Amino acid sequence: MPSDPESVLPIGAALRVLAPESPQAHAMFNLGVVTAIILGAIFVIVAGLIVYALMRFRWREGEPEPVQLAGNLKIEIIWTAIPCAIVAALFMLTARAMSLADPPPAPAPDLIVTGHQWWWEVRYPESGVVTANEIHLPVGRPFSVKLESSDVLHEFWVPELARKITAVPGHPNHLWLEADRTGTFLGICSEFCGTQHAWMHFSVIVESPADFAAWQKAQLRPAAAPAAGAAAEGLALFARTSCLSCHAIAGTAARARVGPDLTHFASRRHLGAGIAANTAANLRRWLTNPQEVKPGVKMPDFKFTDQQVTQLVAYLETLQ
Ligand code: CUA
Repeated sequence: MPSDPESVLPIGAALRVLAPESPQAHAMFNLGVVTAIILGAIFVIVAGLIVYALMRFRWREGEPEPVQLAGNLKIEIIWTAIPCAIVAALFMLTARAMSLADPPPAPAPDLIVTGHQWWWEVRYPESGVVTANEIHLPVGRPFSVKLESSDVLHEFWVPELARKITAVPGHPNHLWLEADRTGTFLGICSEFCGTQHAWMHFSVIVESPADFAAWQKAQLRPAAAPAAGAAAEGLALFARTSCLSCHAIAGTAARARVGPDLTHFASRRHLGAGIAANTAANLRRWLTNPQEVKPGVKMPDFKFTDQQVTQLVAYLETLQ
């Protein structure tokens, strides 16, 4: 389990539900505020009238019985019309917020995000970039996201930027992802999906268009093979063990899509979908026994020797 709580969240980010940072999140937040004000006013008026009636008309010694009424058409029309008007107003406000927060999908997605037990695969179909548990976006540009699942139901949620949406196996869903400012935003899986549901975090890293372009360019470079030393031995070990049955590294024989693509593994900030910061020490713990760091994770304990772990860490650290 992570010892340093700072290490488990994207730097400077927390799960902030009431801090919208995109046009879509603002539309939903404003609808929530307006609805709360209307409902609050109804509560105050109704509760106030009840309290007033209780005090003003309470039974007093010797008072005659009040006038008994059997219906009042005018009042009945008023108390039917007012709620109808409130519901109609809320309906129109909701329809407007929905069209802002959830516009129709674009014909071709900018991003394909796939939920796996327990990590997120991220693909940019236009450029061909593949990464995991990190979404990079240019500031102020809406990205259409196609959301899929490879196994069970997951739920993709970046509270500051967009609504929750379920990842359903065999039924892609769609949402828009956009941010008004640069920064790192925390995303989580918000539907129980198995033992490590709580460790299915991801970061949305919003950059200037130039930084985003530079990131994409760097991500498209295939991995260079280290010439010698522990890193070269690590690559040889990677190529002859089960690593390549699950992982892909562009520029090597590893092409599997079961686990995260590792081509630019060292450029990522976190390990194990947010469970620890991506440092050499944490990577060493992970490779020594991933089951100890993230119990139930699909990566088995390969019982690598200390020397093998050193070689693999040396190699993986070159994958910038
Ligand atoms: Cu994936 Cu919860």
